[in-house]
Amino acid sequence: MNEREAMARALDLAWRGWGRVQPNPLVGAVVLQGEEPVGEGWHPEFGERHAETVALAGAGERARGATMVVTLEPCAHQGKQPACTEAIIRSGIRRVVAALRDPNPIAARGTELLREAGVEVELGPLSEAAAAQNAIFLHSIAAAGRPFVALKLATTLDGRIADGYGRSRWISGQQGREYVQWLRAGFDAIAVGGRTARLDDPSLTVRGPVQPRIPPRRVVFDRAADLGPQLTLIRTARETPTVVVVSPQAEPGRVKRLEAAGVTVLRSGSPAEALRSLRDSGIGSLLVEGGGQLAGALLGAGLVDRYYWLQAPLWLGDDAVPAVAGLPARALDQASRWHVVERRSLGEDTLLVVDRS
Ligand SMILES: NC(=O)c1ccc[n+]([C@@H]2O[C@H](COP(=O)([O-])OP(=O)(O)OC[C@H]3O[C@@H](n4cnc5c(N)ncnc54)[C@H](OP(=O)(O)O)[C@@H]3O)[C@@H](O)[C@H]2O)c1
Repeated sequence: MNEREAMARALDLAWRGWGRVQPNPLVGAVVLQGEEPVGEGWHPEFGERHAETVALAGAGERARGATMVVTLEPCAHQGKQPACTEAIIRSGIRRVVAALRDPNPIAARGTELLREAGVEVELGPLSEAAAAQNAIFLHSIAAAGRPFVALKLATTLDGRIADGYGRSRWISGQQGREYVQWLRAGFDAIAVGGRTARLDDPSLTVRGPVQPRIPPRRVVFDRAADLGPQLTLIRTARETPTVVVVSPQAEPGRVKRLEAAGVTVLRSGSPAEALRSLRDSGIGSLLVEGGGQLAGALLGAGLVDRYYWLQAPLWLGDDAVPAVAGLPARALDQASRWHVVERRSLGEDTLLVVDRS
C-alpha cells in the first residue's frame, strides 16, 4: 500500500465516526511501515480517542521509523484527549502525511511542533476529498453565522419529486432510502417545507444502521403555521425536538396550538434569518429534504452548500411536482456551476453529490 492508497483507506475509516463525533471532525489514520500497513484507526466517538492514537496502539513497536498517514493534521492540543503530536513524537514515527491542515485555532500548530521534534511532515494529499468529508466541521470553524445547509432530493429523470397527486413514496429504491437514513445521522437537524409535512406526514427520524449520538432535531418551514396536531411531526414533538419556522404575521392562535403540543416556534422574516436563529440554537448542520418550493427558496437565496441528488430511472411528466420551484432565471454564461464531490450508483438510482463552488 503506498501513501496515497493509505490516505484513501484513512478516509474510508474516518466515515465510521459519522453520526457519532460531531461537532468534532471525522478523522482516519493508517501507520505504514514501508508499504505495509501496521496500524489503523479512526475517531469513533465524541470525547474518545483520536484516530492517531488508535492507529499507534495497533502498530505498537512497529511505529518506530514508520509513516503516519492521517486525514487531518494531528492536534497539538490537550483537550478531552492528550495532544496527538506528543503521542506521535513518543512513538518514533519518522514521517507524517496529513490531507488537511486543522483550521481549528485551538488544535493548530501540529505541523510546527512535529517539525521542531524532527518529524518530517507533508500536507495536502487527497485534500479535496478530505475537505469534502469534513465540510460540516470546516463550515463550523469558518463561523459562517448559519448552519451548513445540505439539500437532498430524490427526483425522476424529468426532475420531479412527486406525482400530480403529491405522492412521492417511493421515487428512489431501497438502497437510496437506506443511504438517506445513514445520511441523516450526521446532521444536527432535518428540515422539510410545510406542504411536505402535510402531504407526506414524515417522522424525519433516523432508522438506519448508524444511531446518531444526538438524534437530529426536526424543522418545518411553514410561514402560516398551518400544521395540524394529527401530523406525526407535531404529535411526537415532545419525544423528538421539533422547530416550526413561521412568519412574524402567523396567526397567534395557530402558534399557541403548536407551542401547546411541545413545538418550538421560530418567527422569522426570511430563510436567512431563520437559519441564523437555528445556528444560535445550536444547529450547526441542516439537511433539507424538500420539497421543491423550500428547495427553490433556499437555493435562490444562496443558502445551500451541498446538494445530494438521488436520481431514479422513471418519468412523471408535466403535472408532477418540480424538484426546484421559484428559482430565479439565469443566463447560461452567468449560471453557477457546482463542484462534483461524489458520484455512484445506489441500486437502480444514481447519487450525485455537488458543492457550491
Ligand atoms: N422526492 C423527494 O425527495 C421529495 C422530498 C420532499 C417532498 N416531496 C414531495 O414534494 C411535494 C411537496 O413539495 P412542494 O414543493 O409542493 O412544497 P414544500 O416545499 O414541501 O412546501 C412548500 C411550503 O413551504 C412553505 N414555505 C416556508 N417558507 C418558505 C419559503 N421561504 N419559501 C417558499 N416556501 C416556504 C410554503 O408555505 P407558506 O407559504 O405557508 O409558508 C409552501 O407552501 C410533496 O408531494 C412531497 O411528497 C418529495
